[in-house]
Amino acid sequence: MEFKKNILGIGAGYVGAPSMVMIAAKCPDYKVTVVDINPQRIAAWNSEELPVYEPGLEELVRQTRGRNLFFSSDVDKEIRENDIIFVCVNTPTKTFGAGAGMAADLQYWEKTARQILENSQSSKIVVEKSTLPIKTAQAMERILSSGKGDITFDVLSNPEFMAEGTAVSDLENPDRVLIGSRETPGGLAARRQLVDIYARWIPPEKIITSNIWSAELSKLVANAFLAQRVSSINSISALCEKADADISEVAYAVGMDSRIGAKFLKAGIGFGGSCFKKDILNLVYLCRFYGLPEVADYWESVVRINEYQQDRFIANVLQSMFNTLAGKKICVLGFAFKADTGDTRESPAIYITRKLLAEHADVVISDPKALANAASDLADEKGTVRYVEDPYEAAAGCHALAVMTDWELYRRLDYRKIYKSMVKPAFIFDGRNILDHRHCFDIGFNVFPIGKPSLTRF
Ligand code: NAD
Ligand code: UGA
Repeated sequence: MEFKKNILGIGAGYVGAPSMVMIAAKCPDYKVTVVDINPQRIAAWNSEELPVYEPGLEELVRQTRGRNLFFSSDVDKEIRENDIIFVCVNTPTKTFGAGAGMAADLQYWEKTARQILENSQSSKIVVEKSTLPIKTAQAMERILSSGKGDITFDVLSNPEFMAEGTAVSDLENPDRVLIGSRETPGGLAARRQLVDIYARWIPPEKIITSNIWSAELSKLVANAFLAQRVSSINSISALCEKADADISEVAYAVGMDSRIGAKFLKAGIGFGGSCFKKDILNLVYLCRFYGLPEVADYWESVVRINEYQQDRFIANVLQSMFNTLAGKKICVLGFAFKADTGDTRESPAIYITRKLLAEHADVVISDPKALANAASDLADEKGTVRYVEDPYEAAAGCHALAVMTDWELYRRLDYRKIYKSMVKPAFIFDGRNILDHRHCFDIGFNVFPIGKPSLTRF
């Protein structure tokens, strides 16, 4: 079959694969290929056991794979054969050299740029989908224009705003799609081509276009604003605990103001995930680079409050359990950084579990999707850690439950049954404020929510 367009996604990760799957599902007359340098990942995308868990994704893959969606390890060949290339490779925080711990590590991204140049025999549109520092498109253009011959490359910025756990619905029905381009005839023509793809399923008023630097920067700023809301509410949760206010009531009252809005005001053990911290630190680095230390400090404090919130949580566990955790069994309910994903990157549960182990607690970790990742995150730990998927089995014989992930499943557990199986006095530390605290207290637990008065019998 002749396809109308040939589209390539480079990087078959949490962003690359689902976003290409959605294009394939919505545009059956386009051929969409996803490549990755990691052959195991590609093999998994071609198997029955997908490497990424996202509600609804498996069904879409089943519908499109082999029809107009293909996963391949042959990066060079696919670059040659495709006209529109989405670059979706990882851009983690740099761990070495200048800017270590702050700046984005662009090595994967630059390798891809060079590979595109080496293998292209015709003009291409190259779309930045990875989250990148402002002005990266310029570097991309410089690399791509260093080749000889008359083929041209138009670089667009099309940052992705989907969240994990809701990737399919976010991609299907996004708040907006942002496309930045150069305002040259070539740049504008490339922009139109990309708009045409999204216009297949997204209403025109939600497809916004801008200059390329604004698009790159908007992505970092959107993540910084979202994370800032979480840190703002978490900072106030600390005050609530001192002053007998209830953070849920405060968030509700504040969020009712339509200028503020109700979303992203859930207090908890802080934000995790592969992007918030990395993107804010990248923003901070850029501000320092451009000589704006006050702006850098302002945004850096969002990350500091996130760390403070996790330290506060541990201190509370330790203090409430009579200042010793040695030999006590703690059941960690949830290890993913949020519900509906198996992803544990930067999950607060990693840091908190390590601190519990440092206090010589025995930890039992339960999670419906993230146990394999949890085991690999903690592979270097010498303390006693067990991984038990069934939450009832995990909690039995424990002194305390620590809720780390807002899985719906944890709201509906039979806490009476769990209480009976635990060592008394039994404790609940609800790091996500998802349980019915009064009910758990009535059963017999000592309950410690975030930003609300604790319910204890001491
Ligand atoms: P990921 O690590 O899950 O996936 C990246 C993939 O790229 C990996 O499979 C890796 O093997 C592959 N790769 C690296 N170099 C390659 C190369 N030269 N050729 C082919 N493949 C290569 O990362 P992710 O979570 O999908 O994030 C990718 C980008 O998207 C990042 O910039 C991130 O900030 C951004 N982003 C992520 C999310 C999210 O929810 N995870 C949301 C929006 C934006
Ligand atoms: C986030 C953004 O929401 C996406 O728009 C963006 O595309 C993505 O980062 C990215 O660039 O990677 P994600 O990290 O997948 O998505 O998930 P979020 O729903 O934003 O949650 C992030 C963290 O904040 C989670 O640990 C969550 O538990 C925490 N959170 C969120 C709170 O503690 N309180 C809230 O009210 C909301």
